[in-house]
Amino acid sequence: MIVARTIAELRRARSELGGSVGLAPTMGAFHAGHLALFEAARAENDAVVVSLFVNPTQFDDPSDLSAYPRDEARDLRLAGEAGVDVVFAPAVEELYPEGFQTWVEVAEASRGLEGEARPGHFRGVATVCLKLFNLVRPDRAYFGQKDAQQLAVVRRLVRDLDLELEIRAVPTVRDADGLALSSRNVRLSPEERARALALPSALREGAEAYRRGGDPVEAARAALDGLPVDYVSLLDLGDALVLAAAARVGSTRLIDNVLLEGALT
Ligand code: PAF
Repeated sequence: MIVARTIAELRRARSELGGSVGLAPTMGAFHAGHLALFEAARAENDAVVVSLFVNPTQFDDPSDLSAYPRDEARDLRLAGEAGVDVVFAPAVEELYPEGFQTWVEVAEASRGLEGEARPGHFRGVATVCLKLFNLVRPDRAYFGQKDAQQLAVVRRLVRDLDLELEIRAVPTVRDADGLALSSRNVRLSPEERARALALPSALREGAEAYRRGGDPVEAARAALDGLPVDYVSLLDLGDALVLAAAARVGSTRLIDNVLLEGALT
């Protein structure tokens, strides 16, 4: 496995990859959800590139950025074991050199939910994804369904800017008790982790209410067991309707969603 630290190293490594290339953009602190992205990319492509970059421009809260879990040595070991061909792990200055001033705004898809709770978040996501797509030139890129609005933003970016790649949605991986895997889960104390289970269980209640013809948002809110939420909301992705929520457990912010209709492919 090649570890590219600079754009020049990445370009060199990319030029040696034959056939189709799958890209899994990540911010590291790998868990089984990331491994599922790598596996999906491996299954459909001749080569797999993973980016490992905690993108500062998508954090609206500096303390969230500094507390973001990082363990590069472990990540590289896991990527190697998963059969990844190239890991792109640049320094911040490599992607955002002095004088950087070009931003991508995906206007409508970035509105509401995460876009409202984290101002500027999707501008940072869209900008870094476009840079990664330009640098890696993948045939396909893999994103987790857990970040459903991010998926919508990236799909819109690809469509609007006529990028030649397919976006694939990979199902959310959960622990046996239902908690969606997230790099942020390592910040939860055992007591907080137990409280966090109210989030997936409230979403399940919401989906159940929807199936019975009830209001999924109201049902999920009622089932949140006092967990403070940024939002519980419906997200219409065109081919899928999702019930999404963001909750705070102690100082950790968690998001999750459940599919109500259609398919996130
Ligand atoms: O989902 C993430 O980990 C990040 O938002 C992404 C897509 C890697 C962009 O920094």
